[in-house]
Amino acid sequence: MMFKIRIHFLGLIFLFGSCTSSSTKSVESKSDSLYIKEGDSLALATFDTLRISLQRAIAKNGFDGAVSYCNVQALSLTNVYKSDVVSIERVSTQFRNHGNAPDSLEREVLKRLAAVQKSELVRISENEVHYFKPIIIQPMCLACHGDPQKDIQPAVLQTISKLYPDDKAIGYKEGDLRGAWHIIFRNNSQPTTTL
Ligand code: HEC
Repeated sequence: MMFKIRIHFLGLIFLFGSCTSSSTKSVESKSDSLYIKEGDSLALATFDTLRISLQRAIAKNGFDGAVSYCNVQALSLTNVYKSDVVSIERVSTQFRNHGNAPDSLEREVLKRLAAVQKSELVRISENEVHYFKPIIIQPMCLACHGDPQKDIQPAVLQTISKLYPDDKAIGYKEGDLRGAWHIIFRNNSQPTTTL
């Protein structure tokens, strides 16, 4: 394999609010930990954006209405922190939206994450660094991604199959790997940890 792959065990501690990096070092010399810190911040901030919007939609229109809301809004909400040099995606082998289907690198990493749920940094080149972070199923996810017999209400299931006729994103249990955050840093983008 040509990729130089480094695997990291991540703690549960995330650092926020500090904007300390103003150096002009190249990507090559930047330490993995800066990318990991930035990647974690971006993933968590994007997850919060999605979660808060989803909870609002559920409160307003129920799970059923929230599925339609996700259908329209999920992609743009995932892109809230996107910039010229940083892209953020959610990918899954059991995708609901075809736009979240994995490419070959993503498939390869997802296979490893399914075996061991830990984040990975993949350096493709001096100007392209990829960060992957597992997305794990929590209790609140089951209403739309759980067991269709007991977790998902029939009306919700109906809306899901109407909007996503070949949905693969059901049948999960709490703690399962649902997919991964895939964050790409390009063109010497500086991790700045401004979130
Ligand atoms: C109200 C229903 C609902 C809930 C609750 C929900 N999701 Fe989803 N999820 C969806 C829909 C609908 C999509 C497809 C969005 C789109 O079209 O981009 C989706 C897509 C995703 C994707 C992108 C990959 C794919 O399959 O297309 C991930 C990852 C994901 N959800 C994880 C979660 C996690 C983790 C939770 C719990 C924290 C959760 N979801 C809770 C409805 C839901």
